[in-house]
Amino acid sequence: MLMDLCELSPSYVRSIAPYQPGKPISELARELGLKEEGIVKLASNENPRGIGPRTRAAIEASIAEVARYPDGNGFELKQALAKRYGVEMGAIVLGNGSNDVLELVALAFLGPGRAGVYSQHAFAVYPLATQARGARSIVVPAKAYAHDLDAMAKAIDEETYVAWVANPNNPTGTFARGEEIEAFLRRVPERVIVVLDEAYNEYLTPDLRAHSIKWLKRHPNLVITRTFSKAYGLAGLRVGYALAHPTVADVMNRVRQPFNVNSMALAAAAAALDDMEFVAKSYAENLQGMRQLEEGAAKLGLDYIASRGNFVSIRVGRAAEIYKRLLRRGVIVRPVAGYEMPEHLRVTVGLASENEKFLAALAASLRD
Ligand SMILES: Cc1ncc(COP(=O)(O)O)c(C=O)c1O
Repeated sequence: MLMDLCELSPSYVRSIAPYQPGKPISELARELGLKEEGIVKLASNENPRGIGPRTRAAIEASIAEVARYPDGNGFELKQALAKRYGVEMGAIVLGNGSNDVLELVALAFLGPGRAGVYSQHAFAVYPLATQARGARSIVVPAKAYAHDLDAMAKAIDEETYVAWVANPNNPTGTFARGEEIEAFLRRVPERVIVVLDEAYNEYLTPDLRAHSIKWLKRHPNLVITRTFSKAYGLAGLRVGYALAHPTVADVMNRVRQPFNVNSMALAAAAAALDDMEFVAKSYAENLQGMRQLEEGAAKLGLDYIASRGNFVSIRVGRAAEIYKRLLRRGVIVRPVAGYEMPEHLRVTVGLASENEKFLAALAASLRD
């Protein structure tokens, strides 16, 4: 009899639950025989506006270089980031999306006999990355859906090497103010790497955009991660980065693949940093769209979790059923039962017309 090949992998790998991505438009079109153009996807916190003009030009120009390996050190992008954020280039780690950078933290600092701490309802990659390294997960109950940073600090034990903090968090959209994060950093032992995941930073109102980067000087155990997938519109090209103490960045760089960010992504991201108008427009329209979704949900008598990202989790009740009904109407959102939120659906803020289509489909799906 054939052996169970699955048994060949360590038990901590076998017990990993696969990541559930948003349903692709093409898949729903195939399943329901719908036209792709008629489908609205608000399931993966992407930027519905596409990309800015400089980014597009840089991508087009980069086609000429695709036969060559990318610059494994990402010099130009690092230089642009260093200038933008006032850090040295040695403090930057580039990744195939910020997801890759999160994995690099786990690879560099976690392993059997070690633990990572994160909040209930926190971004799914933290449990995945922690578990894939054979490390123990310490899951701290959330407080009104938000990270309970006091409880997280208390939960740190002598085996804890990484604390994962999403700010804002996905899928709850909850946010901790700068003072709270600073207080957390002061409490956490220096031996614990604090990952401050700021994937949605560009969507914060200026008063909430704390100067987390300046904390790096005082807290060498801080790793800030950001991405080009959201406000910059580059989710499909995959590029993100970490800012960290150069020693921490060096360790992370040792475990990454030599060419983990492709040449088109590098060129696009460097140019995207100059597409300031595009990012400003994305920010402003996201705030309007968020209001549209919040008001629409309230009109339907539904609660939602106030969100600082480009998405909002709405409490619809029988979420699995409503999700299916929305699909039949050509609207893809994200069920979040896997985040212990079985009554919510997470909806990405789309263009005004997409939000409208979603709200109409939601109203009809609640009536069915
Ligand atoms: C909180 C958070 N961090 C990180 C990521 C990873 O994004 P990417 O790998 O596209 O940079 C996401 C994606 O949705 C996210 O929500």
